[in-house]
Amino acid sequence: MIRSVISGCGSYTPEKIVTNDDLAKIVDTTDEWIVQRTGIKQRHIAAEGETTADLGEKAARAALKSAGITVDDIDLIILATSTPNNTFPATSVEIQHRLGMKHGAAFDTQAVCSGFVFALTTADQYIKTGFAKRILVIGAETFSRILDWEDRTTCVLFGDGAGAVVLEAREGDGTTDDQGILTCKIRSDGSHKDKLYVDGGPSTTQTTGHLRMQGKEVFRHAVGMIADVIEAAFEETNLTPDDLNWFIPHQANKRIIDASAKKLKIAPEKVVITVDHHGNTSAASIPLALCEAVEKGQIKKGDLLMLEAMGGGFTWGAVLLRW
Ligand code: UT7
Repeated sequence: MIRSVISGCGSYTPEKIVTNDDLAKIVDTTDEWIVQRTGIKQRHIAAEGETTADLGEKAARAALKSAGITVDDIDLIILATSTPNNTFPATSVEIQHRLGMKHGAAFDTQAVCSGFVFALTTADQYIKTGFAKRILVIGAETFSRILDWEDRTTCVLFGDGAGAVVLEAREGDGTTDDQGILTCKIRSDGSHKDKLYVDGGPSTTQTTGHLRMQGKEVFRHAVGMIADVIEAAFEETNLTPDDLNWFIPHQANKRIIDASAKKLKIAPEKVVITVDHHGNTSAASIPLALCEAVEKGQIKKGDLLMLEAMGGGFTWGAVLLRW
């Protein structure tokens, strides 16, 4: 059977680093509060004029290099973002053009913080059906552009960045020993749409709007929803948390990550944490964390990885894969 294998990954974060102490100068907050409640110590913020396409392009180039291929080998680009350069055309099309890709297609997908899991799931279906052989899957965000910098309950939580992977078709035996994606689970429930949203848009206010969040409500649902898709992925594959080598969660809040790992009985040493230096980068957070663990040499061929995310919508999902 055809499996979707990650053959390369790359990432990019803007140069500018903003610490909690920097934020304490503009809103009524403290380093202690932010670290205790979220685990975040600093985040990268895009420079003036630096866009989601800029970040995504850099991550994409790094992923192509790491896979040892050129853009000529790519059939499709899928970009997960909630902070596109423009309402349209899709930011992925701009990245496609900048990469010099004149064939194939590119499109954006939007599932907020679950965006990368949704994009990977989409790409996996295209590969399994034979529609595409190699897909560039990117998560890129400039959340700093949609934050209300006077709202201390949200502006301390997010950061900018991008990560990308090359997903490639390879033959597998159809067992869970195969390299590649073993299963994907995605869910959404729009009844929660008002708990985490942007209060603007082309069809409503004709403005971009700002991020609004009932943080406690999001927190309250997060752990249960994350456990739901992860348990479903384990059940389908007859694998267990003991089989996992690495848990690579969406990096929103260290307390949510710890509580999810505890509920699922995943040992703390298997959990990849980058929220301390990236903050919540929405659709970019998982590929950023994945690339960092790969670059550190933590992830080895044959390792079993669980990626998961939960975010606005609500949307949530998990991808179980063998490296
Ligand atoms: O990717 C998915 C998207 N988002 C998330 O996953 C976020 C989920 N939610 C959370 O991470 C947490 O709910 C937060 C980190 C957002 C907030 O933590 P919390 O423990 O739920 O705090 P809280 O909202 O209950 O606020 C506690 C207190 C409040 O003061 P009072 O009412 O108790 O006097 C807030 O006004 O902390 C206050 N507060 C702050 N204080 C200092 C809120 N933000 C800040 C701040 N600095 N930045």
